[in-house]
Amino acid sequence: MSVDMATRYLGLDLAGPVLPSASPATGDIDHILALVEAGAPAVVLPSLFEEQIEHDAMAVHFGLELGADGFGEAPSGYLPHLADYNTGPEDYLKLVKRARAEAGIPVIASLNGVSSGGWTLYARVLADEGVDGLELNIYRIAADVEESSTEVELSYLRLVEKVRQAVDVPLAVKVGPYFSAMASMARRLGEAGADALVIFNRFYQPDIDLATLGVAPNLTLSTSAELRLVLRWLAILHGRIEPDLAATTGVHHGDDAVKAILAGADVVMMASALLRVGPSALTAVQKGLEGWLEENEYESVAQARGSLSQRAVADPSAFERSNYMKTLTSYAPSW
Ligand SMILES: Cc1cc2nc3c(=O)[nH]c(=O)nc-3n(C[C@H](O)[C@H](O)[C@H](O)COP(=O)(O)O)c2cc1C
Repeated sequence: MSVDMATRYLGLDLAGPVLPSASPATGDIDHILALVEAGAPAVVLPSLFEEQIEHDAMAVHFGLELGADGFGEAPSGYLPHLADYNTGPEDYLKLVKRARAEAGIPVIASLNGVSSGGWTLYARVLADEGVDGLELNIYRIAADVEESSTEVELSYLRLVEKVRQAVDVPLAVKVGPYFSAMASMARRLGEAGADALVIFNRFYQPDIDLATLGVAPNLTLSTSAELRLVLRWLAILHGRIEPDLAATTGVHHGDDAVKAILAGADVVMMASALLRVGPSALTAVQKGLEGWLEENEYESVAQARGSLSQRAVADPSAFERSNYMKTLTSYAPSW
C-alpha cells in the first residue's frame, strides 16, 4: 500500500507536506535546486527584510528629490554609497526570478518586518513577479512599556489587512507565540486576510558575552524538544480557525513531522536541520513520515491530519492545564 502524501497548502496542490522554511538553505539557486532534488514540494525563500526595503525606498526618494530640484550631480559619494548598500531588493528579485524559472515547484517569497512601510509596495512587486505565495514574517519584540497588548495586536492585524488589500496572492503570516490570547489572535489574523499561519517564529535570543561584557549575537539552531510548543497550538487551533497551519520550529526527524501532522499541521517546515545536515534531512523526514503512516495503516496524510488535535482526542484538557500539577509534583530530585 502506498500512502497518498498529497497536500493542499496556501491554495497550492503540493506533492507532500515537508517544505524547506525561510533560511540561508533556500537563499540561492544552487541550494534550492539541491532541495528540489531531495524532494521539496515547494520552497519558502529567505525574507526580504524591512530594513533592506527602507533603504531602497530611501534611495528612490532621494533619487526623485534630486531630479525634482534639478540637481545634475549627486552629492559626492552619497548616491553611490546608497546604491551599493541597497542591493537587497534587487538581488531578492533576481532570486525570485531564477527560482520561478528553474525550480519547477511553487515558490513562496517572504517579507520580514514590523511596520507597513514599504511592505505593500514590495508585496505587489513580488506578486507581479508571479510568486505562488507570500509569507509575512512579523518579527517584533513588544518592548515599549507604553504600548498595550491591544495596540501590539492591532499593529499585526493592520499590517496583514494592508498587505491583503494590496495583493491577491495567497498570504501566509508567520508569528511568534508571545500573545496573551494566542487562539483569538490566530482567528483574527485569519479574518484580517491570512490564508495560512506559520507557527512559530523562533526569536533570536541575544546572549551576554562575559569576556567582552557585550551583547553577543548568538544564533543557536533548534532541537526537536522545541516542537512541543508548536504541537500544543496546532492541536488547539486545528479545525477552529480558517487559515491553514504550517508548523515551524523543531522539525528534525520523521517522528516530529508525524506529530505535527497528527496535531493538525497542513505542512511542516524545516530550517535548522537543513542548515546542519543538508538536503538529505528533508528526504529523511519525508521518508520517516511516509513510513510511519504506512506502518500505522493510514491511507493518506489527509486522513492522519488532526487526528490528535484537541477536538479529536478523548481528553481535550491534555493540551491545556490538565496533568500540569501531577507532572510537576511527580518530579523528584535525583539525589
Ligand atoms: C540562519 C537562519 C536564518 C533564518 N532566516 C529567516 C528568514 O529570513 N525569514 C524567516 O521568516 N525565517 C527565517 N528563519 C527562521 C526559520 O525559517 C524557522 O522558522 C526557524 O529556524 C525554526 O525552524 P527550525 O527549528 O526548523 O530551524 C531563519 C532561521 C535560521 C536558523
